Parts: sequence; structure tokens; C-alpha cells
Amino acid sequence: MKNLIVLICLLCSLTSFGQKNTNERAKWFTDARFGMFIHWGVYSGAEGYWKGEKLRHDNNYAEWILYRNRIERDEYVTLLDRFRWDEIDPEEWVVLAKNSGMKYITITAKHHDGFGLWDSQVSDYDLGNYTNPKRDIIAEMAEACKKHGIKLCLYYSHWVDWEHPLGWDHTREIYKISESDYDRYWQQKVIPQITELLTKYGEISMLWFDMWIHHSESIVSKDQLLQLKSLIRELQPNCLVNSRLGLSIEEDPDIDYKTLGDNQLGEKKEDFPWQSPATVAHSWGFHSSDSQWKSTTTLLKSLIGNVSLNGNFMLNIGPRANGDVPFEISQRMLEMGKWLQVNGESIYGAEAFDLNKDLHDWGKITCKQDGNSFKLFLHVYNWPLNKLINLTGITATPEKIYLLADTQKSPLSFSHSGAFTQIILPDNEPDPYVSVLVVEYQSKPEIMDGLVAQTSDDGYSLLPGNQNPQPESMKIASPVKHGTVPAHVSADGVTDFSWKIYVDKPGEKRVDVSYSFQGNRNNSQIVLNAAEQSLYHPVHPTGQTVGEPNQNWHIDNFESNEIGTINFLKPGFYTIELSIQPTEADPIKFQWLWIK
Ligand code: GLC
Repeated sequence: MKNLIVLICLLCSLTSFGQKNTNERAKWFTDARFGMFIHWGVYSGAEGYWKGEKLRHDNNYAEWILYRNRIERDEYVTLLDRFRWDEIDPEEWVVLAKNSGMKYITITAKHHDGFGLWDSQVSDYDLGNYTNPKRDIIAEMAEACKKHGIKLCLYYSHWVDWEHPLGWDHTREIYKISESDYDRYWQQKVIPQITELLTKYGEISMLWFDMWIHHSESIVSKDQLLQLKSLIRELQPNCLVNSRLGLSIEEDPDIDYKTLGDNQLGEKKEDFPWQSPATVAHSWGFHSSDSQWKSTTTLLKSLIGNVSLNGNFMLNIGPRANGDVPFEISQRMLEMGKWLQVNGESIYGAEAFDLNKDLHDWGKITCKQDGNSFKLFLHVYNWPLNKLINLTGITATPEKIYLLADTQKSPLSFSHSGAFTQIILPDNEPDPYVSVLVVEYQSKPEIMDGLVAQTSDDGYSLLPGNQNPQPESMKIASPVKHGTVPAHVSADGVTDFSWKIYVDKPGEKRVDVSYSFQGNRNNSQIVLNAAEQSLYHPVHPTGQTVGEPNQNWHIDNFESNEIGTINFLKPGFYTIELSIQPTEADPIKFQWLWIK
């Protein structure tokens, strides 16, 4: 009993609610959660090919064609002849964003090619100079965004500029440029163009810079970056600045949010704002050979997964030279928009909940304080065939549970005890992509983190990696070849493991252990202690398997062994302890324990 109280005190956590390290400026951003990226420029006319040759190099980003295929700056602009100016209407992109449930748009005002999509007085390498009648896409976007209530944000390539004689392209690693020459580019082009963009087009909600390495590794100096940032703060104090300015949030807390790598999704909960930029296929600018389109479900899961860790998701369109958005992109975005119309409450203004992100096998959780109630949103990726959702780790009893798609909010039946809630689902899954359950509490519920959750088929999968506390010194071998050699701990001396579970249905449960042992039969054993009972298992050799024929690919076999049963006499919290006890040099490779 004393143990149990200590355990509860250790595990109970009452962390305060909210994405704490968000400054006032960025509040709209963390509420918005979902935005559109637009990569559109001269390169859109090339569609990934130049003079019949496909884009060189393997990153396959169509907007890099000038640099990759070594196109001369003045010849590059002949691609503009392919543009259908009478068909190009940026308002259509804004309407698509709106109908897709996106709250902001970031358009490439100037990409690495150095070509401005507006009528710039600073440079001739811009649309104003190459269209007749003049087009100013930034002005058109500003008007359309205002009309439709979407926030306008601008991508501006500050570091890389392939057209300016003193700008940066990577060949400068070979053909050097001095810092003072580079500063001439900076003062002649970057500073005045940012001034133009922040003074001519009304409110700009964010500037999205694109230096994906730290300034110390680049030609850009910290002073230049600080000059740029203070100019922005002076001209538009509410304009957000992303970390690809070249300053990390850690180095400069005045940076408003962190930008992850291209198509990199969140992996851990953060208290500061962050965002993943993502494509539906691969290239950012239109590439006619793009074909690996992510499904709507995949994209929704990316959005939900990020929000469940306090992140945003910005999804790209690469329109063609007539303004058309590829069907595969618009179709998926509109499907996301339909989903958000029904389920948006679980995304907009929603945040990460405090439980371990991978605790449940059915999906992800977001949460929100809503007036007098606190809501958890359970995003069910995999509607269980047994029509039950197991929710582990919350000690408070829910007030009410219903489907977010159900406007009547008809209550679903559930049971609750200890740190376990089981919800009975209706027969039919309400959404073909991801269905959402709302679990309402009177106030933010207390949690007990560090438990291993029950799987959807009512078992406990106890792994070296989900122990509590996680032993710092324990080395977990990563899976090899998609898990043919699974993650495991190689024990060559006595090695102990420990987990905490909550058992809601008492009774006899079977225990299986999976391991690989390549030595000879000896006195090595595995001992399990739980609920004041012990099980002993004499370790035996597990042999090998063959991966593929004729490849000399022999794999140490990991196999499941039934080691007995444990009688859990009453509902409650239990500690499961496992001891792997090899007697000789040959290690026992422990994979998992399964209790059901
Ligand atoms: C990379 C690429 C660029 C693209 C951007 C989007 O930095 O250089 O072409 O605009 O990622 O995240």
C-alpha cells in the first residue's frame, strides 16, 4: 500500500495547461494550426525540364532548375513566355486555401532564383519588369487574402540569390565571394526589398526565410540577420519570423517559431510554436514527373500528429504557369477541408495533451479548455473491430463522451476505474479518414503518466523502451532491416526491467516473453515478479531464420515463449518486474513481454 502511494505521488502530474512559450505575436499562429505554402515563380514554366533534359541531381525540387541545370539568368526568364497571364488568378489559390480549412498562406515572393513576384523598385529581376500589362502577384494576393479573411505571409530567400552578381549560390564554395561583397548584395537587395514588402502590401503576418543551416556555417553574419530582424520589428511589429532566418529559437528567443526540415513531422512535444512545411508529393514548385501523392488520410494524420505535439502544418501547392493547381493536390486539400468543417474543433486552438505521445495504439490526442469544460479529442486512426477504445493514464472520470461528428452529441457509454476509461463505440465509423471522439471533463483531468497502456486487443506490450522509469544506461539495439532483427536489449549479465500497468479486469493473465538466445542450453533463466507471484523460465536456444533465399541472410530468431500465468486479484496498479539472468558469456536478447 505504501508502495502504491509513493508510486501515485511519483506519477501524478499536474502540469499547467497551455503552449507556454508562445509570445503574444504568435498566438494567432498556434490557434490557426493549418496553412498553405505556395511555390510559384519562373520555374513553374519549366515543369521540371530544361531543353528536354530532366532536372539534374536527386533532390528533384523543380524550383531549383536554374541552379541545377546551369541556366543562364537572362535565358531563364524566357520561361515566362509560357505563362498564361489571362488565366492566372491568385484569388483561386486563396479560395482553395479557405475551402481546405487553412488559415494563412505563405507565397514565394522571391525564391532562390532571385526573381520577385511583385513590382519591385529595387531590382529589375521581377514581374513588374517582365509583364505587360504589369502584374504584381503579391498585391493580388494581399487583396484576395483580405477579401477572404486569410493571413498573408511571404517566403523570401534572403541567403541564397542566384541572379544578383554578389548573391549566394553554392558554387561560391569554389568561386569565392568576400564578406564585404556579399554585404553589398544584402544592403542593395535584401534590406530594400524587405522594406518594400513590409510597406506596400498592408499587413504581412509572417516572413518565412529559408536558410536551413546556422548562420555560423554560412556567409551571412549574425549582424546582418539582426539588422534584418530589427527592420521587420520596426516596420511591422506583429510580423512573425521563422527560425530559418538562420537564428535558432534557443539562440534568440525573439524568433517566433521553429521551422522543421522539409517534410519533417514533429517527434516530440514542444512548448514553443513550430511548424512542418510539407508537400503532397515531393517537389515544391510544379514538377510534371511528381507522382508519389500522399493520401488524404496520411496528410490528415500529419496535421493531427503535429497538433498533438503543439505544432503547425503548412501544406504546399505548386501551381502551373497558368495558375492551375494539380488535381491530386486540390482534391486532397478539399477533402481535408471537409474533414475540418466537421472536426475542426479538435485542431484549431487545440494543443498537446500531457500523456506520452505514443501511449495508445489507436491514434493521437489533442485537447482544449473550452469555457467551463475541458475537452480531450481522441483521433481514432484505426477504428477497433471490437468497438472499444481503451484510454489509459487519466484518473478523472469523464463527464460525457460523444463523437465530434455527431451534432446531437449523443452520449457514448463508457466505464471508468483507476486510470482507465473504456469507451463503447457505435457500430459505424463516422468518418472514412479519421474519426474523433470528444471526452469532456469538468476541469483539466489529472493524469498518471508512465503507465503502459492496454492495447486495443486488451493486452500489455512491455518493451525495453516503455519502462518507467526508463533506465538511462540501458542500451536498446535498433531494429535491423524493418525489424527482422527487432529492437531489443542484449543482456550479458543480470539485467532488470520494470513497468507499471493498470489492471481494470482482475483475473488470471497469461505471460509471454520474446527473446533470442544463440548459446547452448544452460542454467540461464528469466524471472518475472508481479502481484506477489513469481514465474521462472529456463532459457533455451532459439535458432535462426532465413531472410530471403540464396542471400546468405540468416537471422537470429526471436520467439515468443509462454512462461505461465499471473493472477491479478483485484483492479489496480501493478508493477511488473523482469530479470534476465544469463549464466554464461552468451547474451540473452530480450525483445518484449506480453501480458493478456
Ligand atoms: C528548401 C528548398 C526550397 C524550398 C524549401 C521549402 O529549403 O531549398 O526550394 O522552398 O525548402 O521548405
